[in-house]
Amino acid sequence: MKAQDSFMLPPAASSFAQELDVLFNFILYLSLFAFVGITLGTIYLAVRYRRKEKYPGLNKAVSHHFWLETVWTVIPAIVMAVIFVWGSKLYLDMTIAPSHSMELKVTGQRWFWTFDYPTGVQTTNEMVLPIDKPVRLLMSSKDVLHSFYVPAFRTKFDVLPNRYTQLWFTPTMEGEFPLYCAEYCGTNHSSMIGIVRVLTADKYSAWLDEAGAAAGADVPLPELGAKLYKSKTCFTCHTDDGGASIGPSFKGRFGQTVIFTDGSKGTVDENYLRESILNPNAKVADGYQPIMPTFQGMLDDRELDAIIAYIKSLQ
Ligand code: CUA
Repeated sequence: MKAQDSFMLPPAASSFAQELDVLFNFILYLSLFAFVGITLGTIYLAVRYRRKEKYPGLNKAVSHHFWLETVWTVIPAIVMAVIFVWGSKLYLDMTIAPSHSMELKVTGQRWFWTFDYPTGVQTTNEMVLPIDKPVRLLMSSKDVLHSFYVPAFRTKFDVLPNRYTQLWFTPTMEGEFPLYCAEYCGTNHSSMIGIVRVLTADKYSAWLDEAGAAAGADVPLPELGAKLYKSKTCFTCHTDDGGASIGPSFKGRFGQTVIFTDGSKGTVDENYLRESILNPNAKVADGYQPIMPTFQGMLDDRELDAIIAYIKSLQ
């Protein structure tokens, strides 16, 4: 697909960009139509019924008009319902990532972005992606609130400290697209700018090899996690092969639905794992004792990401 910069919008470079633009234009032109109609109507009526001796009866009160009121209630209600259903459908499409998505770890901090690739490659302010492959971003911040915003993909999501947020899209156009921080985060907020480079599959794997060789590739997250599993002695309470121990085994744990000691239910996702490492007794799985110590202050953010990536790799 070729870039088609319209005079209003940036190129539509992701799988849902075009559909979103149709909805955007629908709402825009509908609003324009209503605005022009109401303005012309107001002017016409003001002139037509301006104060004149000719209309002595005009001051008589009119209390209601059944059909007129029905029409101006029912038609807008239908239009609102259409926008609601259409918008909800698109929103859900944009929320739920396909299970075969490629995953990147995105870290925002004042005032730059870092991207961790599954192979251990790490980039700053530059995200390189293969075309036509769904990408799922797992995002967190090291300091304050940021917001990950790529206008060409029609996608934006807050990036928070102490919590993971997610976002997914499929790039459908080769090229370079600007990435912005869309949440005021301090003095240099406006220079927290990056670039998204979308390449063909061949060029992408060539880039990944080259970047890996040049940087001496940092240890990939799951591998670092496996090391920490030993060095931080997670193994004393958690097995990595499904075997029973003091705590639940890491194997197959990710994605499970768990009942907690207070009777409530939850899914083992990134945010639950993070909470369980930093504040282990917040939600204890039924059948286990609340005896795990906190690892607050003992792991930096990348190490936390690594342990979580390690647990996810043990399926
Ligand atoms: Cu980060 Cu604004």
